[in-house]
Amino acid sequence: MTQPAARSTKTRDEIALAYKSEPWWYDVRGFFILTFAYNTTLPAQLRLFGRNFGADHLEIAIGSGTFLAIVLRWRKWKGLPKVRITGVDYAESMLAGAMRRYEGDPDMQLELADAAALPFEDNSFDTANIANAVHCFPDVDGAMRETLRVLRPGGCMVANVILYPEGIQPFKWIAEKINAWGIRKGILYTPYYRDDMRRRLLAAGFEIGFEERAGNCYNVRAYKPKAAATAG
Ligand SMILES: C[S@@+](CC[C@H](N)C(=O)[O-])C[C@H]1O[C@@H](n2cnc3c(N)ncnc32)[C@H](O)[C@@H]1O
Repeated sequence: MTQPAARSTKTRDEIALAYKSEPWWYDVRGFFILTFAYNTTLPAQLRLFGRNFGADHLEIAIGSGTFLAIVLRWRKWKGLPKVRITGVDYAESMLAGAMRRYEGDPDMQLELADAAALPFEDNSFDTANIANAVHCFPDVDGAMRETLRVLRPGGCMVANVILYPEGIQPFKWIAEKINAWGIRKGILYTPYYRDDMRRRLLAAGFEIGFEERAGNCYNVRAYKPKAAATAG
């Protein structure tokens, strides 16, 4: 299925600027988007992302780090080990929030970087999470190729991707309105069709381990093949 033309026409810098908002507003807005556009819940997201942390973990599009902080609290509560984390984001204002939050944490390294041009060596990470962000990337295929490149063979990426809304009215209509607003503002690049996103992951070289449609999200756990020779 081909995608409708409804996608952001904003430039990379305009998209980065679209995230410049007060932290309290970002969190309130995030709650509404999660509930009514993603049609999911925080506990469901914790179950999806919380277990995908290898010894060297990459958090792509970490944002202000609020969501990751909740995930890490959940992991602690579950008795899961602390790991080394590298977080990247290309919005300076968001990354500044993460830098304040994780200041002095020896296990956290933060870098300003585009998901489609990661400043890391091939095969650097055991795991990568892309939480609530794949649908924000202007170059989603580049980002998927880069994520695969920096994962070690056998490494696992977990992501959720906004799909074109389905379901009953008025919830479908509300989700469509929120998405249209997000696209106008530049915080959403485009929703996807599940088959389209699946094809993109396979084209990047991933093997899909688990996938589901949950609410208006495509949740996926995808692996870098063990025998993968990284393109470099
Ligand atoms: C909706 S926020 C999600 C932040 C965080 N992962 C969370 O779950 O709260 C999307 C983030 O993606 C970042 N982003 C968008 N396009 C990006 C790109 N090409 N490279 C890196 N970060 C990007 C934005 O700056 C923003 O911080």
